[in-house]
Amino acid sequence: MVKLVNFKWQQLILSLSCLLLIIACQSLYPATNPDAKPLKVATDPTFVPFEFQTADGKLKGFDIDLMNALASPAASIAKVAGFAVQFESLPFDGMISTLQAKRVDAAISGITITAERLKTIAFSRPYFKAGLAIAVREDNQNIKDFNSLKGKKIAVQIGSTGADFAKTIPNAKISTFNSGPEFFQDLLNGNVDAVISDAFATLYAIKNGKFKGIRVVADLLTEEYYGIATPKDSPHLDAINKGIAALLSNGTYKQIYQKWFDAEPPQLPDS
Ligand code: ARG
Repeated sequence: MVKLVNFKWQQLILSLSCLLLIIACQSLYPATNPDAKPLKVATDPTFVPFEFQTADGKLKGFDIDLMNALASPAASIAKVAGFAVQFESLPFDGMISTLQAKRVDAAISGITITAERLKTIAFSRPYFKAGLAIAVREDNQNIKDFNSLKGKKIAVQIGSTGADFAKTIPNAKISTFNSGPEFFQDLLNGNVDAVISDAFATLYAIKNGKFKGIRVVADLLTEEYYGIATPKDSPHLDAINKGIAALLSNGTYKQIYQKWFDAEPPQLPDS
């Protein structure tokens, strides 16, 4: 009888210490542990080579590699960033408002950091140096700069910096498109005189895609930087910035850049 009572006490002590251990573990790794909840990242995969979909539906591209590297322990920043990424495809035009409404945690989509956008959302430090370029049909010799675009028919992607730029051209007739490749087709078909779009994406589409017969006017119209966008006051922005810094200094950024552009990456500003 006495033995049995002793046994019960031991059991109680054992259960209590287990409970204490669990509580201690939970405070070390709280429920907000980013590992527990994947970071929802929006992207518009119609923008080669930054984000696009393969025939079997896989997401690929420079931005996709960068985002995955930010989350990977192999980049040795897991302790800093330490999140799993869950991509969500979204039309580019809806990206800013989706971030504003906090329906996603972040967006990576070749999004240019602009003063206008900074009014409603936040951006990471710049991760890519870009700029707008004019694309024309190969045989077109008369469009060569901003001035020669006056009064011309121009195609752009809705909600893009290219669309904003086109609005500044006097008397231009602007057609808008929802996704990347469509406007190149329109240019080839002769429906518009020029496309205003991101230079790297345009050059890549010409080099690797079916858009033979298009060329890019050499001089860029703007200098832009892409950033990873988040809602304002995002709890993840600091980790994302530290992650980018780590990828820049440990060589991973360079590796990804060379994989997609076969060139040395340019110097990026810190902010
Ligand atoms: N850089 C341009 C902008 O921010 C165009 C980006 C388009 N990106 C895309 N995934 N469609 O407006």
